[in-house]
Parts: sequence; C-alpha cells; structure tokens
Amino acid sequence: MWKGRFQDATSSLVERFGESVSFDWRLYEHDIQGSIAHARAQKNAGLLTEEEFAAIEEGLREIGREIAAGDFEFKTSLEDIHMNIEAELTRRIGSAGAKLHAARSRNDQVATDTRLYCRTACDRLSAGIRKLQRALVGLASANRAVVVPGYTHLQRGQPVLLAHHLLAYVEMLERDSGRIADARARMNVCPLGSGALAGSTINLDREAIAEELGFDGISRNSMDAIADRDYIAELLFSIAMCGIHLSRLGEDLILWSSSEFGFISMSDAHTTGSSLMPQKKNPDVAEITRGKSGRLAGALVSLLTTMKGLPLTYNRDLQEDKEPLFDAVETLDLTLAVNAEMVAGIVIDEARCRAAASDPMLLATDLADYLVRRGVPFRQAHELVGKAVAEALRRGVPLDQLDFAALDVAFGGDAADVFSLDRALEARKNPGSPSPAGVEAEVVRWQRALGSELN
Ligand code: ARG
Repeated sequence: MWKGRFQDATSSLVERFGESVSFDWRLYEHDIQGSIAHARAQKNAGLLTEEEFAAIEEGLREIGREIAAGDFEFKTSLEDIHMNIEAELTRRIGSAGAKLHAARSRNDQVATDTRLYCRTACDRLSAGIRKLQRALVGLASANRAVVVPGYTHLQRGQPVLLAHHLLAYVEMLERDSGRIADARARMNVCPLGSGALAGSTINLDREAIAEELGFDGISRNSMDAIADRDYIAELLFSIAMCGIHLSRLGEDLILWSSSEFGFISMSDAHTTGSSLMPQKKNPDVAEITRGKSGRLAGALVSLLTTMKGLPLTYNRDLQEDKEPLFDAVETLDLTLAVNAEMVAGIVIDEARCRAAASDPMLLATDLADYLVRRGVPFRQAHELVGKAVAEALRRGVPLDQLDFAALDVAFGGDAADVFSLDRALEARKNPGSPSPAGVEAEVVRWQRALGSELN
C-alpha cells in the first residue's frame, strides 16, 4: 500500500507483530458499510461515475458475503481488515477500487468502524441484560412468599423476602443498561471526513455520510475524532461494572446452593459434576461468571493504560484497543445469556429459607424499634436488647423465649409479639423496603417495565 516510499519489504516478524486482521476482521460489515457511504459521497462530489460507484458497491457487498460465508482469504501482509478489503476490491474491479481511499485515511476509517461496532454491541448487550432481568423477575415472581435472612458481613442481619434480594440485582442491571445507553448516545457521531488528522482538501458531504450510517451527527474536531477512544473506554467500564454485578450475583448463588445454606438448587443443565467425587454438583457457571469479571475489568484497565500519555493524534498503540473490546463484548454477551438460562432453572427450597430466616436473632433490631416506640431513646434500646441477646446466648435459649418484663421495666408484656416473622416483614412499609405488599408492587412494576408475562 505504501510501495512508493519504500525499497525493502517488511520483515516477516514485523508483519506478524503488526497485523491486526486476525482480530479486526470482526469489523468487516461496518468497514463495508462505511466504505459504501464514503463512495456514495465521492460519487455525489463528482469523483466517481455512476458505474464506478455501482462497481464499488457491488464489489464490497460481494466481499462481505464471502467473509460472512467464511470464503474470504485474509492476508496478514495486508495488515488489517481495511486494507484486506480495499486491496481485494481493487484486484476485482480495477481502478474504481483504487479511487475509494481518496479523502479518507485508515484513521478516520477505523474510528468509524469501531464506533459502529460499539453501537451494535450496545444493542446486543442491552438485549442480553433485559433477558437476565426477566429471568430474575420470573424467579422473584414465582417465589414471592419466600423469606430469607438478609446478610451484612455475611452474618445474618434481618429477614427479607427472597424476591427483594433478587430485585436488587434487577436494579443494578438496569443501571448497567442505562450506562450502556448513555455511552451509545455519546459515541454515535461520525468521524469520517477527519482524514488522517486534519480533514482533507477534498470535501465530501459529511452530514450525508453520517446520515447514511445512522449516526446522530458528525464529529466537530478532526484531531479529537481520530485520537480519542473514550467511547470504547465508556463501554468497557459499563461492561466491567455489569460483569462485577454478575460476579456478586454468582457469589450469592454459590453460597445459597451450598449444603450449609441449602436455599437453592441449580438445574443439572447448568451445573457440573466432579471427575473424582461422585456426589458433587458444582455451580461452575456462577463461578466462571465470577472469574470472568476479572477479565472484564482487565479490558478496561488495558485500554486506559494504552491511551495514557499518547500525544495527539493517532498512534499505532491504539490498535491495541480492539482485542480487549472484542473480548469484553463477546465475554459479557455469553455471560449474560448463560446466566439468564441458569437463573431460570433455579429451584428454591422454601422451607430451608424460612427455617434460616426464623432465627429470632434476626428480629433483635425490631425489638429495639419496639422499645423506641415506647419512648426509649434508640441508643438505650440498643443496649437493652444487646443485654437480652447476651442473656439468651449465656442461657442457650432462643431470644424470643426470654421473659423480657423480668429483664427490664422498659419492656412491656407484649414484647415477645415482636417475634412474628410475617408481622416483622409487613411492618417494613416504607418505599424500598421488603414488605410483602411493597415487594409485590415492585415485581409487578418490573414485569410491566420488562414486558414479561404477569404470573
Ligand atoms: N489497524 C489500525 C488500527 O487498528 C488501523 C489504523 C492504521 N492507521 C495507521 N496510521 N497506521 O489502529
């Protein structure tokens, strides 16, 4: 491509070192789409005849079909997807193909292609998130009455409805979706026309190109447009954050499926056995999900580190943006899909959940609240209940079996009434809290929002 200036051939090591077509072939559809829009603008500017444009468009579409069918031979000697497609086009149609690169550089071309790729990825990932949200809401909805202990420090804290716990993840995923949508809106501007860094003396209709490619507008500064990769970083952050949410979900499910908790069991289709221990049923999907989150966070760090300290404008370092991007998008896409399936296959052991949540210690805070309603300052109430807890532990009796009136005059004869699990949940009426009515309303709100079946 640059034979004019050079006498010697590229070293084969350099060829291996510098090629990107082994991974950036994934951009081919976007590259072809971008080239057709660019060629149409060239035709409208009088740089191509109708026939030349038609030959370019048809040639590019044919190459696209061959790549899709796996019939196209990529050459690492042609470095990247952009040159592979352009060189093959010229080989097939001759001089019209050689005209295509006027008023464009691989710098604005790759910036355009990756924006298109990211845009498509955003749509795919949002759909994947939605599917997982539906699965979580479905599980919550089918188990509305199930009570579990809620934990802090992985110590039993207070009772909650299992549905409330599951809907916490639906909220997190909703923010992940929102972040992806924000990133998508900001990335959706067209860099084509920025050239290598300083535009071009051949001025094509940038607005028309942008419109054909479905962009909301054009970039306003040619140097910014080809040098920055913040749109990839934003997407990678959104992906990493989502991966970390999924990792925490995975950790909860791993704990819940252990014999020690016994709250859930996963389907055979989403667990694995042990090659040695015949009794094992391992939550590998949740574990791999937890493991993948490190890789997703790594993709973000990799890109940020690549960008740091690069002088404007394009530097070849930026070629390193692609592997983390492709890997993160493909990893999260599959992670979301397999998690949606796994969640849909979870069976809840309601009795085990209720038994765990029936530990009267979980209502120690409710007992303090009871004293507060009787006029005891909270700090004092906390101490009185703390003493009651110590007494129960010392005597080895359940907290609700103490004679509270005998412990302190602050307790009324009705103190033990606090220890009704159902009443305790019903009392948590404030918006955002896990009362059965509140959680029911949230399940219904999510079902409507996600367009899933009411059940
Ligand atoms: N493969 C290159 C990349 O991914 C395309 C842009 C090459 N530009 C250049 N000036 N060498 O960044």
